[in-house]
Amino acid sequence: MTPPESQPTVAPALTDQFARPLRDLRISVLDRCNYRCPYCMPTEVFGEKYQFLPREKLLTFEEIERLVRIFLDFGVEKIRITGGEPLLRHGLQDLIGRLRALDDRLDIALTTNGSLLPKWAGSLAKAGLRRITVSLDSLDPDIYHRMNGERFGVERVLEGIAAAESVGLGPIKINCVVQRGVNDDGLVDLARHFHGTGHILRFIEFMDVGTRNQWDLEQVVDASEIVERIGAEIPLEPADPNYVGEVATRWRYADGGGEIGVIASVSAPFCGDCTRARLTTEGSLVTCLFADGGVDLRAPMRAGADDEALRAAISSTWTTRKDRYSEERGELLQVEGTTPSRERVEMYQIGG
Ligand code: GTP
Ligand code: 5AD
Ligand code: SF4
Ligand code: SF4
Repeated sequence: MTPPESQPTVAPALTDQFARPLRDLRISVLDRCNYRCPYCMPTEVFGEKYQFLPREKLLTFEEIERLVRIFLDFGVEKIRITGGEPLLRHGLQDLIGRLRALDDRLDIALTTNGSLLPKWAGSLAKAGLRRITVSLDSLDPDIYHRMNGERFGVERVLEGIAAAESVGLGPIKINCVVQRGVNDDGLVDLARHFHGTGHILRFIEFMDVGTRNQWDLEQVVDASEIVERIGAEIPLEPADPNYVGEVATRWRYADGGGEIGVIASVSAPFCGDCTRARLTTEGSLVTCLFADGGVDLRAPMRAGADDEALRAAISSTWTTRKDRYSEERGELLQVEGTTPSRERVEMYQIGG
């Protein structure tokens, strides 16, 4: 977003230690989820008694709006709302409305498991949401059930996608995390299902996010293999990126039936162009999906910090940033066959 000429940005655009600008802010609005995907919130850990954050620890919508204003001044162009499951956050449409009111051209997106879209798609669109991403790992009812912790059926998510389309949130991006031996047999079925619909299916290599998903390199299906397997059934050709630093590599169907994307964080890391900051549910600013922690912005806000102090905290966090975890992982895997061992923020706290 370019600010109007008569209103220069309050703060200069920020770049980190590798000259990467700050362009995207991903905001987790809730740590809870109505699913229990084994690779994110395994039931053994996140049982009935699991203590999620109490309400007072979540950033309020006022606090989120205040921070977003500051991030926009620093050059952020895209906001993605994540969770946990963001549609479980009470009154989410009010937050969307507040962010939309900041700038009509701001790119606001949302990542959801889709189960609550039949109920909420209309009010979210009305509040100013213009696009969404829905997670869907399989069309096979049994596999889908197993992959979401036996919560909802696949039909419900397909209904959610249809509901979102009907209120103008399409074309919709569909995220599928690929795990060898779990759902990789169904990739072609997914591709066939969305071929020709205008929706964009994206396959994500299974990543070692967080500390609880029992990641194993053997379960990663490389993006090249995914493209090969789908291309063998419905021929594909490479497509140019939509913008510098796009996470997904695009492939289009040769017959004009649309496109797919592959997100190769393991086999072809993309840290070099990473312009993403993340705000956790508790208001911590995290500079990498694999970070071991972040910088608390909630405490200073609640202690009465003025905007200048918040700007200084954000600026010093980004300008000292050196994260390149996926590249480091790749280097270590090649040399030692292991991944970097350290604490990592959990997926449900930063929403991917
Ligand atoms: P648009 O291009 O704006 O539609 O969004 P996007 O491609 O960033 O989409 P999305 O947020 O759905 O990202 C897709 C998936 O890619 C995420 O859910 C993560 O699993 C992965 N991903 C996104 N950002 C990063 C990142 O910075 N690092 C790594 N390693 N993976 C990421
Ligand atoms: N590897 C890759 N993608 C993941 N996601 C969650 N955990 C992982 C993982 N370990 C995806 C979800 C959703 C998005 C938020 O991140 O399926 O699409
Ligand atoms: Fe919920 Fe998404 Fe985590 Fe699955 S991956 S448990 S849907 S937050
Ligand atoms: Fe960015 Fe970290 Fe992902 Fe690399 S691993 S692309 S630095 S979030």
